[in-house]
Amino acid sequence: MLHTTIELRQWRDDDTPAVLAAFQEPDMRAQAPWPVVTLRDAMGWIAAWSGVGHAFAVTLDGQVVGNVAVTDIDVHETGWVSYWTTPEARGRGVAAAATAQLARWAFRERGLFRLELGHRTNNPASCRVATKAGFRPEGIERAKLSHDGVRYDVERHARLATDRP
Ligand SMILES: CC(C)(COP(=O)(O)OP(=O)(O)OC[C@H]1O[C@@H](n2cnc3c(N)ncnc32)[C@H](O)[C@@H]1OP(=O)(O)O)[C@@H](O)C(=O)NCCC(=O)NCCS
Repeated sequence: MLHTTIELRQWRDDDTPAVLAAFQEPDMRAQAPWPVVTLRDAMGWIAAWSGVGHAFAVTLDGQVVGNVAVTDIDVHETGWVSYWTTPEARGRGVAAAATAQLARWAFRERGLFRLELGHRTNNPASCRVATKAGFRPEGIERAKLSHDGVRYDVERHARLATDRP
């Protein structure tokens, strides 16, 4: 249970070392389109959000501990949500709280109606985050993703602006 303050704010250039550190975790590989192994890669990861949607650094007592983003916003006021947290911050409710905060922002400030996300079925922690943040499961997309030659089923979740919190 979380007893500290989570905030979402814009990513800044001086967050580059925090991003680089976060990407040292092997399970973060799928969270960037290229390997993030240098400060330049990390800077590129921050810059790459420009124009594709809204990404927010998640801070816990002022320290960057994660990312939440809504991208692929379409004409139906639907957006795609993604999230990660740093290993040190995990298991404290950070991802769920930040994702719920992102959803409130996306509905109220950005005027979206439907938020979607997907997690590999072998990622139960992400499933739990989605559920805790109010994203209901909608079904399995078979063999949707391919990583290192292995295909993975993905469970789709979504939250509507009209869903009860
Ligand atoms: C998935 C991830 C975002 C979770 O972040 P987090 O800050 O630990 O999430 P929270 O603390 O809000 O919630 C985690 C929940 O998963 C549960 N959980 C953790 N590992 C689990 C496991 N192996 N099986 C089942 N549940 C698990 C925790 O118990 C917790 O649920 P609870 O609050 O009911 O106890 C984080 O592990 C991460 O960044 N992973 C790498 C990137 C990634 O997978 N992103 C999502 C892609 S879809």
